[in-house]
Amino acid sequence: MPPAVLLIIWHSRTGAAQAMAEAALAGADEEGVGAARLMRAREVGADDVLAAAGYLFVCPENLGTISGEMKEFFDRTFYAVIGRTEGRPYATAIAAGNAGQGAEAQIDRIVAGWRLRRVAPSLIMRFGGDTPEAITAPKRLSGNVQQSCRELGRSFAAGLQLGIF
Ligand SMILES: Cc1cc2nc3c(=O)[nH]c(=O)nc-3n(C[C@H](O)[C@H](O)[C@H](O)COP(=O)(O)O)c2cc1C
Repeated sequence: MPPAVLLIIWHSRTGAAQAMAEAALAGADEEGVGAARLMRAREVGADDVLAAAGYLFVCPENLGTISGEMKEFFDRTFYAVIGRTEGRPYATAIAAGNAGQGAEAQIDRIVAGWRLRRVAPSLIMRFGGDTPEAITAPKRLSGNVQQSCRELGRSFAAGLQLGIF
C-alpha cells in the first residue's frame, strides 16, 4: 500500500502562513520524513490532491476570505476532484490580523463539496496590525505559534500513519 501522505497546501503574502506551513511540515517529519508533502497552492494540481491521504490548508485571511491564490487553487481543481475524496481528513491553519474566521469558514464550505472530514480543531493565528505598514510588513512566528503549527502537523501525520483517520 502507498504511504498515507499528508499534503500541506499553502499560500502566503507576507510570510506568516508560509512559516506556519513549514512548521507543520517539521512536525509531520517527526513522524517520519516523507509523511507530508509541502506545496504552494499555485503548484498543486488535481492529481496531487487525489494522490494524498489528507490535507492541511494553510493561508491568510485577506479581505474576509481566503487569499486569491488559495481560492484559485480550489477553483482550478474543484471539479476534477469532486466525488473522489469522500471521507478523507483535513485541517486548516489560518494567518490573520484580527479575525480569520471568514477564511476558515470558506474552506470548510468548499471542502464540504469534496466530502472531506475535519480532524483537528480550528487553528487561527492572529498577528495584529493597525496600520497598512504593519499589516503588509513581513511576518515572523513566535515560538508559541511555531509550536502549535508543528504539533498540528505532527498529530495529523501520526493519525494518518496509524490509520486513525
Ligand atoms: C490585502 C490584505 C487583506 C487583509 N484582510 C484581512 C482580513 O480580512 N482579516 C484579518 O484578520 N486580517 C487581514 N489581513 C491581515 C493578514 O491576514 C495577516 O497579516 C496575516 O498574518 C498575513 O498572512 P501572510 O503573511 O501569510 O500573508 C489582510 C492583509 C492584507 C495584506
